[in-house]
Amino acid sequence: MGGSSFGTLFRISTFGESHGGAVGAVLDGAPPGLELSVAEVQVQLDRRKGGQSAASTPRAEPDQVHFMSGVFEGRTTGTPILMILYNKDARPQAYDAIKDLFRPGHADHSYLARYGIRDHRGSGRASGRETAARVAAGAVARKLLEQRGVRVLAYSKRIAGIECAAFDAAEIERNPLRACDAAAAERMMAAVEAAKADKDSVGGVVECRISGVPAGLGEPVFDKLDALLAHAMLSIGAVKGIEFGAGFAAADLRGSEHNDWMDASGFRTNNAGGIIGGISNGAEIVFRLVVKPTSSIEKPQRTVDKDGNEREIVTEGRHDVCILPRIVPVVEAMACLVLEDQFKALAALKE
Ligand SMILES: Cc1cc2nc3c(=O)[nH]c(=O)nc-3n(C[C@H](O)[C@H](O)[C@H](O)COP(=O)(O)O)c2cc1C
Repeated sequence: MGGSSFGTLFRISTFGESHGGAVGAVLDGAPPGLELSVAEVQVQLDRRKGGQSAASTPRAEPDQVHFMSGVFEGRTTGTPILMILYNKDARPQAYDAIKDLFRPGHADHSYLARYGIRDHRGSGRASGRETAARVAAGAVARKLLEQRGVRVLAYSKRIAGIECAAFDAAEIERNPLRACDAAAAERMMAAVEAAKADKDSVGGVVECRISGVPAGLGEPVFDKLDALLAHAMLSIGAVKGIEFGAGFAAADLRGSEHNDWMDASGFRTNNAGGIIGGISNGAEIVFRLVVKPTSSIEKPQRTVDKDGNEREIVTEGRHDVCILPRIVPVVEAMACLVLEDQFKALAALKE
């Protein structure tokens, strides 16, 4: 299976399925001598874990990371870092009853068309579980970026049509939905619980802000910084769209409204979202992602089996009613991986 690696000079390859033995990542390109503990990677993994609220899956994976290579006496050695997370709470038999059915919203039908064989145990590679490996590798990238003065922050901006009216960074890790507005978070949670009671699910919008990136990072053509971020973000399951800065609202603006004028102190507005012509302009990088409502719902739905017979399906099991709070750390991890790779590319050009 191709397509399991991402990045060039700072490169990850992930492996593992939702209900197989383990998931993990091989990270190549970390410099030697970086202090790195299991605990600091674990902090990020714990943010992605399920079972933290009514919004998340009750699947109780400890997500305990093990360094198998590339770290010696608390420091990176400069060789590939293999991080592995054993699956402890896999229940593959829970999928036996629907193993021949195509679950609406899932990759079952397209996987079978692509490979002629399908691991039916909870989505296999397409599972959100694969993203634990990205978060582990992203924690290393985050540490390197912190040394560069770069800060990456994502949060739920909208859930079930309820939008955050305020932005309070301190609030994000205080509420279970990782929303940036306490009052909105309460109303969002009520909507999540209502959807759960209806055996349904909800989606929303995640916003990501990246500060501390100097002007000049990125490339002007195929490897535009916004194109690479879009690639990274759209590779996350359930992410259906991305917009930078003013985003889709730009369609209705005039040039005079959309252009970011400059004065002696820098850009007066940030409709570009911190990237122009594929290269960072020194302003905050801002983008938003559409996250679809979770596909697995307990409401009966119509589908077909692999022989084309029409059937009814009820997706029982352990699912996120709303994926957003668990996607937030994955978004941050993927942004960190892109940026660290680009910083390395820029350094290589200057060498
Ligand atoms: C962290 C995370 C957790 C997820 N949890 C679920 C889940 O519990 N149920 C579900 O139906 N989809 C879940 N997904 C989304 C599916 O993986 C995804 O929607 C599905 O594979 C189809 O791919 P697509 O939506 O990108 O087209 C999750 C995704 C992520 C990133």
